[in-house]
Amino acid sequence: MAKPSRTLVLLKPDALQRGLAGTLIARMEQRGLKIIGMKLVQIDRALAARHYTAHVGKPFYPGLVEFITASPVIAIALQGENAVDAARQLMGATDPLKAAPGTVRGDFGLAIGRNLIHGSDSPEAAERELALYFKPEELVDWPRDTERWITES
Ligand code: RTP
Ligand code: MG
Repeated sequence: MAKPSRTLVLLKPDALQRGLAGTLIARMEQRGLKIIGMKLVQIDRALAARHYTAHVGKPFYPGLVEFITASPVIAIALQGENAVDAARQLMGATDPLKAAPGTVRGDFGLAIGRNLIHGSDSPEAAERELALYFKPEELVDWPRDTERWITES
C-alpha cells in the first residue's frame, strides 16, 4: 500500500477563462483524490518566480510568467495514495499534442503554453509548492467516509 502524499494542482488562467474549472475539479474528485485545500489566487510576478524557479532563464520563461500572472488561478491541495503521480497522469504530457486522450491536456488543450493545469512533479516539489499557496492551517485533513471504497487502506 502506498503512503498517502500531498500535491499541488493549479488550474491555470486559461482553464478559468474558458469556464473549465468545474470540469477539471470533477475529474480529480472522480479519480478519488481528496481535496484538502482550495483557493482562488491572482499570482504576481514574485510568486510566479518562486513557483517556476526551476525554469528561470529558459527561453519559454518570460511567456510562462506573462501567462500565469495574466488572470487568476485556482490552487488545489490534493491528498491520496500516490497523489503526485495520479495528478500528473490525469493532467497528461506537458505538450497537449503529445498528451493522451482522456487526460486534461489531451482532451482540452492544443498549445504547450496554454496547457490548463499544473501539478507538482515530486513529493518534495509538492511540499515546497504547497507552502507557496497555503498556510498549514488552510490544509484540512478531513476523514472521508467513502475512503474504504476508494483505497484499500
Ligand atoms: P507544469 O509545471 O505547468 O505543471 O508543467 P509540466 O511540469 O508538465 O512542464 P514543465 O517542464 O515544468 O514546464 C512548465 C511550463 O512551462 C511551459 N513550457 N513551455 N515551449 C516549451 O518548450 C515549454 N516547455 C515548458 C509549459 O506551459 C509548462 O506547463
Ligand atoms: Mg512542472
